[in-house]
This record gives sequence, structure tokens and C-alpha cells, in this order.
Amino acid sequence: MSLGMSVVLSRAGPSRPRREQSTFLPSACLLPFTVRNEVLHEQTSDGQRGKPGRLGSHTSTRNNTNPPAAAMDARDRDTTTPAGATSLVYAINFPRGFSLAADKRSLEYFFGELTQVTINPGEGGVVEWSPNPEAGKCELRLKYRTLSRTSWSLNQKWALSRLKNTQLKMSGTMLSLLTTSLLLGFTCGAVYDYGAYDRTRDNFRPGTFPDDFIWSTATASYQIEGAWNVDGKGESIWDRFSHTPGKVDRGDTGDVACDSYNKYREDVQLMKAMGLKYYRFSLSWPRIFPDGTVAGGVNQAGVDYYNNVIDELLANGITPMVTLYHWDLPQALQDRYGGWVNEALVDHFNDYADFVFQTFGDRVRYWITFNEPWVVCFLGYGTGGNAPGIQDPGNSTYLCGHTILKAHAEAWNTYDTTYRGSQQGQISITLNCDWPEPRDPDSPSDVAAADRYIQFYIGWFAHPIYSTGGDYPAAMKDIIREKSLAEGLQESRLPQFTPAEIDRIKGTGDFFGLNHYTARIIQNRVDPTDTPGYSNDRNLSESTAPEWPRAASEWLYVVPWGLRRLLKFIKLNYGDPDVYITENGRSDHDEQPPITEDADRICYYMGYIDEVLKAIEVDGVKVRAYTAWSLMDNFEWSRGYTERFGLHYVNFTDPSRPRVPKESAGFYSDIIANNGFPEGADVTTMVRSRWEGCRGGPAGWAAATRVNMGVLGLSAMVAITFTIFKV
Ligand code: GAL
Repeated sequence: MSLGMSVVLSRAGPSRPRREQSTFLPSACLLPFTVRNEVLHEQTSDGQRGKPGRLGSHTSTRNNTNPPAAAMDARDRDTTTPAGATSLVYAINFPRGFSLAADKRSLEYFFGELTQVTINPGEGGVVEWSPNPEAGKCELRLKYRTLSRTSWSLNQKWALSRLKNTQLKMSGTMLSLLTTSLLLGFTCGAVYDYGAYDRTRDNFRPGTFPDDFIWSTATASYQIEGAWNVDGKGESIWDRFSHTPGKVDRGDTGDVACDSYNKYREDVQLMKAMGLKYYRFSLSWPRIFPDGTVAGGVNQAGVDYYNNVIDELLANGITPMVTLYHWDLPQALQDRYGGWVNEALVDHFNDYADFVFQTFGDRVRYWITFNEPWVVCFLGYGTGGNAPGIQDPGNSTYLCGHTILKAHAEAWNTYDTTYRGSQQGQISITLNCDWPEPRDPDSPSDVAAADRYIQFYIGWFAHPIYSTGGDYPAAMKDIIREKSLAEGLQESRLPQFTPAEIDRIKGTGDFFGLNHYTARIIQNRVDPTDTPGYSNDRNLSESTAPEWPRAASEWLYVVPWGLRRLLKFIKLNYGDPDVYITENGRSDHDEQPPITEDADRICYYMGYIDEVLKAIEVDGVKVRAYTAWSLMDNFEWSRGYTERFGLHYVNFTDPSRPRVPKESAGFYSDIIANNGFPEGADVTTMVRSRWEGCRGGPAGWAAATRVNMGVLGLSAMVAITFTIFKV
């Protein structure tokens, strides 16, 4: 009998994981189980096949062994083996919600290159396999999917049911299997992350950046200054929030932070030593106007401080980029108006902006009105995880965004009409966004979900400012309105702009300020039972891929190619603007001994910076600036000092807050000195030598451990099965 085999799979839904998310183990890593006596249904040479059997209990023609219920059952559909059979037929039922396995590649994981796969569209999705007749035997080659935990555990069950069918005796081989598992886990696991590596996408591209490219680093007032109640400074919402028990990890506060209020000269020297020519920092509004209002009076000591910082920078050849609002709203405005949900703040912000343009604008050429309004509004007024800690994702989140857009537009217009002529500067806003990759790029609903994700994220603010039509994205307006009416409301929870307001906001960005850190996988999902609000309004679910290395921040996965895709999206959707990357970086845990040889951060920067180079050279995105977050470890908001993003290590237990350069500071400095990665430069040689290790190296070992646990778990399950069923 020919050992030809076809497999019929029914599936719950269409899905094809992206090639770049797939993981391929080298053949040396395949488990060498040989499948014998596995004829469940033989296909006749004329290709006839019985209609699929009922999905339920497993019966096997030749191996009536009653295997344990498996999520993915292989079962026969015919107890008679027709004469002249040429292939084996299996029907495999994928449980509801599992949609990966119909993917051609994921099927290949089960059977390897031994099989050829064709996918026939049809109800439930049908996949047929023809084996390679040259192979001469049927081997079950197990490969492991890595896209999600679900598929991983299903694969184990699949393996189990297949192993059951083969009546593979474990007896004396159990011990060696377990030992081999450990070896496989660690040997293959190291390559596991490397499996996420797509040569056409992830190769290192040497080259240099445009001559006038801006290399910068960033901080923010509350995160570094300290001196929270010194020299007349008013209380900010972050002072209040961090002083409220339970709001910040370990009870950390920004009371002293990096003490940059006193140590700014040292900070400037750190930058100078790195060869930095630009520095992005923010002004503390309540340090300048303690109660947030001009009427309440200016705090001259605060003005002096920022004058000193700016002068010190300029004296050392460093150009300041100044953010007006990096989250530390005067508490008085929160108390009086309820913060950004109240449009009274538009005028107060504009007054504050007017004052700082007038006071510092003779020396400052780059202005950013707001840092990450998405975070301000979603975390500050939606989840309540950030100050001021309001939990109202359905209404306050959107009201906050509305006020901030208006406040930004007023400040931009003030600069444009009153100061631009004499000061010749540029002013914009900084928006943050994670890159959304559709879970199945061939599924229109997942692609649409990924688009909704980005429209609700960066589009929420970018569309009103940078699109030709202005206003909120259509996706936001339509869905939120529809859901609001369904909730019994009279009007949309998303406020509306008047035509005049749309015009006033449109075009108020001299450049596109972008903060970017990570990526997500997006799948279409409608859940009417979820709490109404921003998250539910998007009709999608988010996930990540296990092969993506992780940073200390639980939300931060390292996916460099996501930045390039996001940059291209911005170019195509927002009028090909000049893009200033105003933040990008990676966190470590706060641990002892301190991490100063921060190889993972170097990996992060080399990957992301090279993607910027590709975006410029290949995609033609007009990226003008790159800013590393951060110059030094600092107060990481509700995580306090437990997460460290710095190029410099700061000892927060030492009253003098000493700063120590990490290895990454030297690396970034080399990139700046070479304006990228020119052929022949030491930095380029260094990047080349580390490039692949960054995918399967330090971070890969975490994955190796996961793989090993998986393989070990599989072995244990096999052992238990064999013991229980005495196969
Ligand atoms: C940004 C924020 C920074 C910094 C960084 C790392 O969202 O603007 O202040 O905290 O994230 O989490």
C-alpha cells in the first residue's frame, strides 16, 4: 500500500498567522517519532473519500485504544479499509475559537516538509495533504507553534492523540525522552526567537542617516526634577497621586526623583559626554504657575530654573526641545475644574503657553504642546492607572481628548500668529502609538480591526490635526455613536467638533512627534457584554507573540519592524509629514547588582534605529529626529523606580543620586558619532556581530526556558498517559 496520506481538517475560523510571526525549528529539532499502524481511513486511488464522520469520541480502526479526549481529535470515519487505498484520512475537530491550525504553515508544523499542503476554501475550511511519495514512510514530525499559548497547548494535545494512535511504547525510552526534552528545549529554544526572524524584513541594513539628522534623548519634569514643593512650586496631580497610598509601586514618589532640579548641570555634562546635540525635556506647569493660572501669579524661581537649564544646554552646544505638558497638571486646576474633561483648561493652557513662548522662545526653537494625549486621557481618565486616577472610559476619556485637541490648537495658533515670525521655531504635538499587526493578514475582519485599533489610537489625535479633512476618524465617530445609541443615550459619547473647530485644529502640526515602544497583534472581536468605553468601542482583542522578547515593563515587547510599519502608515495617512521620533526605549527591572551592562537595551536600540534607517531609505519616510528614552533612569509613573529606561543608571537610594553611564550610553554615543552604521565603522562591526544574537540571544533564553517547559510538559503528559492507559 502506498503510504500516501491526506488529512481533512475542519476549523472554527480562518486564520493565517503572518509569516514573520511563524517559528521554524531546524530539522535537527524535530522530534523523531515514527508513526506506525496509523490507518484510520484509507483513501482509494480514485480519490473517493467518505463524508466526514461525526466529531465526537475517538475510535480507531486498528488501534482501538480509547485515547483521552483531545481538543484536536484524529478519528476514523469508516471502519472498512477499501481495497486499493492510497492514503490515510483524518478528520480533526478544532475547538471553537481556535483558528490558527487551518493555516498552511501551522499544519506544516505538524508534518514538516514531508507533506505538501493545499488549502481549499469551503465551509469550515478544508485542508488536504498529499505526502511526498518519495519519503517512503509516514513520519509524524512534531513542530511547535509559537503564536499563542492556545495553539501551544493544543499542539500538545494533538501530539498526544497522535502518539496514542501510534501505540508508541515508552517503556525504557521514557528516561531518554525526558533527557532529550531538556536538551531540545535549550538547544532549539535558543533558536526559538530566531524563528521570528524574517530575512527579508529583519536583516541588518548598514548605512548613515541624512546629514542634518537629529539625535536626541529625553526626560520629563515630574520624572526627574524632584523638588516637588521647593521654591514656590505648586502641587501637581502627580504629586497628589503618588502621595496617595496604593497608587504607585512600593509607594515611590517623585519628591526627589533624579534631583535634576539641583543636578541639571551634571545632566548636561552627561549629554555632552555622549556627543548629544539635542535634548527633549518638559516644563512643570505648576513650577511656573503654582495654581495653573496667570492670574494666580508666576513663580519666578521656577522661571529662573528653566532659564538656567536652557542656558546651560546652549552653552554646551545642545539644542533644547521643550514639551509644555508632560502630564503634571497643576492640582489646583484639577480641583477647580476636574482637569482635562473641562474646556476651561483650554484658555488656561493657552495662557501658560503664551507665557513660555514669550519667556523662553528667544532660545527655544522646538516646542511640543502635549506629550501623549492618548495616555493622559486613557490612563488618567479611563482606567485611572495614572493621575488624576479617574475611571470613566466611556465619557471622560473622550472629553479629555476633546479638550486637549482644542488646547493644543490654541497654543499652536498663538505661536503661529504671535511668535513664529520673530522666533522662527517649530511647534507640534507628540502622539504615541503601538503598531497593530492583524492576527491574520488574509482576514478582512482582522485587517479592519487592526485599522480600527490605529484609528482609535493615534488617529484619535492625528486625524483631526494631520488629515486633509480634519475631525475624528470616521471609524471612531461611527462606532461610538452606534454604541452610545444602543446603550440608550441620546447622543454619542464622543463629543463633536463644530466645523469651525475642525478648521481651527486641522494643520496645527509643524512636524509629527511620535513616541513608539512596542506592537500588538489584533483580532476582530465584538463583545457587547464588555464595560462600555474606549476599549470595548474598538471591537477587537489584543495579543502578543511569545517569540517577541520582553522588557521589564509588562506592556513592552520588542518588535523593531513595528516601528517601520508605523512610520510608513504615518507617511501614507497624514500627508507625508516630517516625523520626529520623540521617544523610543526599553526598560530593565530594578535589581541588584545594578544592570549597567545592558545588552538587551543595546539590542533594542540597534533594532529600532535600523528600522528607522530602512523607513528613510527604503520607504521614503521623512524621519528627521530620533530620541532615546531616556537620558537616565527616572520615576516611571505608576511603576515608580521599579522600571529603568535610562542610558544612565541612577542610584535612588543614595541621597546624591549619582549617575553612571550604562553600556548603552556608549553604544548610542557611537551611533551619534557615526550618524548611523557606516560600513567600516566599529559600531557597524559591533552591530553585525550582535545582530542575530539579539533575536536568539539574551531574550531568546527566556523563550528557551518556555520551550523547554513546554517540551518537558509534553514528555510528562506522554509519560502519564502511558502509565494510566498502560499502553
Ligand atoms: C512614555 C512617556 C514617558 C516614559 C515612557 C516609558 O509613554 O511619555 O514619560 O514614561 O513612556 O514608559
